[in-house]
Amino acid sequence: MSLAWWEGPLLAIETSCDETSAAVLIGPRVLSNVIASQVDMHQQWGGVVPEAASRAHVEAVLPVIQESLSQAAMRLEDITALAVTNRPGLVGALSVGATAAKALAFARKLPLVGVHHLEGHLLSSLAADPELPFPHLALVVSGGHTELVWVKAPGQAAILAETLDDAAGEAFDKGARLLGLGYPGGAAIQEAAKGGNPKRYRLPQAIPNDPHHFSFSGLKTAVLRLVETEENINVADAAASLQAAIVGALVSKTMDAVVREQAQTLTLGGGVAANLALREALAAACAREGVRFVPTPLGLCTDNAAMIGIAGSLRLAQGERAGIELDVAAVSPIPG
Ligand code: KG4
Ligand code: ZN
Repeated sequence: MSLAWWEGPLLAIETSCDETSAAVLIGPRVLSNVIASQVDMHQQWGGVVPEAASRAHVEAVLPVIQESLSQAAMRLEDITALAVTNRPGLVGALSVGATAAKALAFARKLPLVGVHHLEGHLLSSLAADPELPFPHLALVVSGGHTELVWVKAPGQAAILAETLDDAAGEAFDKGARLLGLGYPGGAAIQEAAKGGNPKRYRLPQAIPNDPHHFSFSGLKTAVLRLVETEENINVADAAASLQAAIVGALVSKTMDAVVREQAQTLTLGGGVAANLALREALAAACAREGVRFVPTPLGLCTDNAAMIGIAGSLRLAQGERAGIELDVAAVSPIPG
């Protein structure tokens, strides 16, 4: 099945959390994807402060849009449509991107579409292969979500499994904080785990006997206990053990679903998809099962506007349009 894409240059905007991002795409082809991260600012507080995030988006959004146009060698006049993340996320942060997109669409009389953030993560593997077959199984792992999704077609997603408590990214972030590795934790754990012994510390793989749920809060408690009881903790070994526990839980539940659903293709998206241990483990497991594995390109795993452009382009090509009344929402189920 070949997908229908919006054919002209599309400008996409993403401001749902702590990255201000704008991208220019033609169909699935990403011409630019500019990301201004607020990580340095939020680091001092150990997490995202919503009010500070909104203010930083206000400052960054226009320069980031300008830069995305300039890197794509385009002017605003060349843009033929707009896509913007309008849910879920921090409402103040989302409003900045949505207002910018609405103003541009209104001023230039361009079609506009609102995109669900998770649908962006879900479809970002299309940047690696625009001919990706549907239906397929998708694992979406981010700071807010851990979902196994059966994707019948773009915009038609059914959740097969989700987390009962913490998301996979939260497990990395909370573990990193306990080990004194700072925020955000995923990349820090990956770096600290290099050369560490993943078998040194026994951490639970957090797999309840239930195909429909992940659970990571027990892991956080186990790391806390480890930090409290172990006098000379080896941080590399602890980081490697934590990473192995999270990756092990994700891979085993995902591969069970691959077999159960007889999936031919597995995709991987979301910030945690940047984790090399997870990518390697899923690639090996899929190779053993004879299943095609299509991870999101590394640069499109953590929050970015290109993935919003991909999801938005497909919706625009289906005729979907949002008006000037397009609203934002903190919580919203994935479209299906
Ligand atoms: O998708 P994302 O940028 O934002 C959300 O939608 O939540 O995901 C952010 C999450 C954070 O929890 C961060 O620690 C995690 O992705 N992350 C990683 C890596 N890079 C980012 N986790 C593990 N390994 C990484 N290399
Ligand atoms: Zn995200």
